Amino acid sequence: MCGIVGYIGTQKASPILINGLIRLEYRGYDSAGISTIEKDGLSVMKDQGRVKNLYNLKGIDNLEGTIGIAHTRWATHGKPSQINSHPHMDNSKTFSVVHNGIIENYNELRDFLNNNGYTFYSQTDTEVIPNLVHYYYKKETNKDELAFLRAVKNACSDLKGSFAIEIICKDFPNNMIVVRKDSPLVIGKNEEENYISSDIPAILSFTRNFYFLNDLEYAFLSRTDVKFYDSELNAIHKETKNIEWDAASSEKDGYEDFMLKEIYEQPTAIRETIGARLSENTKCEFEELNFSKEYLQSINKIYIVACGTAMHAGLVAKHTLEKLCKISTEVDIASEFRYRDPLIDEKTLCIFISQSGETADTIAALKLSKQKGAKTIAISNVIGSSITREADYSIYTHAGPEIAVASTKAYTSQVILLTILAIYFAETLEMTQIDIDTLKKDILQLPKKVEDTLKISENIKEFAKKVYQEKDVFFLGRGIDETVAKEGSLKLKEISYIHSESYAAGELKHGPIALIEKGVTVIGIMTDKKLIEKTISNIQEVITRGAKTLIITNQNIDDKMFDEVFHIPFTNIFLSPILSIIPLQLFSYYISKEKGLDVDKPRNLAKSVTVE
Ligand code: AGP
Repeated sequence: MCGIVGYIGTQKASPILINGLIRLEYRGYDSAGISTIEKDGLSVMKDQGRVKNLYNLKGIDNLEGTIGIAHTRWATHGKPSQINSHPHMDNSKTFSVVHNGIIENYNELRDFLNNNGYTFYSQTDTEVIPNLVHYYYKKETNKDELAFLRAVKNACSDLKGSFAIEIICKDFPNNMIVVRKDSPLVIGKNEEENYISSDIPAILSFTRNFYFLNDLEYAFLSRTDVKFYDSELNAIHKETKNIEWDAASSEKDGYEDFMLKEIYEQPTAIRETIGARLSENTKCEFEELNFSKEYLQSINKIYIVACGTAMHAGLVAKHTLEKLCKISTEVDIASEFRYRDPLIDEKTLCIFISQSGETADTIAALKLSKQKGAKTIAISNVIGSSITREADYSIYTHAGPEIAVASTKAYTSQVILLTILAIYFAETLEMTQIDIDTLKKDILQLPKKVEDTLKISENIKEFAKKVYQEKDVFFLGRGIDETVAKEGSLKLKEISYIHSESYAAGELKHGPIALIEKGVTVIGIMTDKKLIEKTISNIQEVITRGAKTLIITNQNIDDKMFDEVFHIPFTNIFLSPILSIIPLQLFSYYISKEKGLDVDKPRNLAKSVTVE
């Protein structure tokens, strides 16, 4: 999705802005641009294509301004082109704006501005913003700082939709205004300079102190100061939050790609996420929640709502929560949940999972659940992210920044956190059906087993070389293994562009088996002892029809039946998805490399999906 960077300080802004955009490249984009305040007014330089193309633009080296805004665009309104790229200026070239999000009523605003003498040059929704600000600014008699702020506020009050906006004005060469609603934006504070970004990692090497804006809060920045205002322009006070993430962990650290690095960071991410919450002889701790037995007994249903990989982590958690706590748990895709009038009341507990904490559909689903009276928990990897500011309770995975579009360490960290959450509920409810002590021991041994799995998973590269030219791959599993089939399939299509499907193994013969023919690759995941014979029978059905098979298992099976068998370490069934996904992550990775694709930035995808 679009990325925003801003700088106001004592250094030349343009290289800082371009470097910041490079760090946001992983979010996905099709064009880029910067705007700075120069001695003779506002300068805008932008183009379609990669951020590094900006270095070739005539005059970019001559920019001297120490205040600037920058943007990577992921086209929504209007095709990728130079004219549609941000920043956009108003007709009089007084204001320059970058915007992330969607202005839903832009047609109406365009008509209004057209009728008031404004002309539009791009097809974007964004171009209404600088012109609307100008429209209100013109009406101000005293053109002071407050007039600038009031004009931005009046314009924003007219906008419907989502936005994170940076705006500079030629009349205020020492200031910048930023505002957000349902779209991410953070402010990093240093002594004589301030940085703005769509997310923390892009500016982590400059500062650890961050301000977070709530919806419709305004920040008025100078080099040394940031003043904050609420939606009615009353002054408000904000403290910075210190972010402990290691700046080096947002670099590639010698790995060829972020995805590979993040796959190998999983033992640490899981260890950090377990942290002090779980130990062998004491009860699990969730101080953030502090739920009573009575409250948990009163819950009629748990909903887990998320998108993509985060939703797959929820599917694993459904198994664990239902078995450990005996509470009916439903998992929903956020974009469906919010429009299907779900049955929610004050006895419903809704858990929202989002690595970035900025996924528009997941945030909207959370807001809906709150309106309907449910208690809401957000699970995120990003401190201060939008979802954590909306939820009643927030708990964090400690995976560190995840840069590759394909989620890996965030997924396994979500699964482990949700497993510990299920144990916490079960212990509070005094449930005894499942051997929780053994599960706890298995969790504590898990990081080491993840390391072992990573070591042996390197061998999957050879199988990837054999199948990288395939057109169709099927993933099969039963029970908890089916959730891994879903995640394995998503990873493969995401970064290798190979068509893949996942099915509950027993469902195959009810239709999809018609697609199986000689040469099709079928991957079976089998870690549940109770179900293994059944899954083997289903795999035999595809072997008979000519499929090539790869099996991921921790059970004793007859390897000779299959083309390839991948043995992973044995662990508790509730934890097996964390080990069985690892060879599948690497399988997708090596296929993508074999095909020469951009692993970290797959086509058409964005890391953080901030539009609905
Ligand atoms: C994962 O590989 C995907 N890129 C995608 O499905 C992702 O998990 C989804 O968009 C949700 O993102 P979030 O966790 O940041 O909300």
